[in-house]
Amino acid sequence: MNIKIADLEFEPLISAEEIQNRIKEIAAELNTDYKDKAPIFVGVLNGCFMFMADLLKQINVPCEVAFTKLSSYHGGISSSRRISDDFDLLVDITNRHIVLVEDIVDTGNTLDYLVAKLTHRKPTSITVCALLLKPDAIIYPVEELRHVAFNIPNEFVVGYGLDYMELGRNLDGIYKRVV
Ligand code: IMP
Repeated sequence: MNIKIADLEFEPLISAEEIQNRIKEIAAELNTDYKDKAPIFVGVLNGCFMFMADLLKQINVPCEVAFTKLSSYHGGISSSRRISDDFDLLVDITNRHIVLVEDIVDTGNTLDYLVAKLTHRKPTSITVCALLLKPDAIIYPVEELRHVAFNIPNEFVVGYGLDYMELGRNLDGIYKRVV
């Protein structure tokens, strides 16, 4: 069923069930890769909150959880190069394995910036796990991006943490803009 958020119309793209099934597969990969590594899962707010919660429920290796907050969209539907560093990661990541958990990789600008910033703090490794990737939108490829739940077309989406004008984050599935 199509939905309206503010002035835009959206149609279903990925169902809640498909998301949960895919999260189980990704968690299984991470449980194997990070056995005995005590990783720190670092969520990139705000968009990651649902994905982070559901993913972590399926992780069965000892791990820590932390957050940082960046934003690059500023409420609209097109990416901006300007990144605001809203709050910094407060844990010491030196000599630790880091799994960055992102909602969506669009141009790759935000991720490129964050990976460079965290690399300076000398973690043992950084791997990125993203719910969504728009392969046709990538301008800044990030080699640390190793787990992607869904590749999607280069279109604006909302739901499951992602917003349009701060609305729609609470939807349990992903919806794409009807153009
Ligand atoms: P990038 O820096 O261009 O890769 O953009 C990444 C950020 O832009 C994400 O963390 C989201 O906050 C936002 N973003 C990118 N595409 C979308 C979208 O389709 N819907 C909602 N937010 C998006």
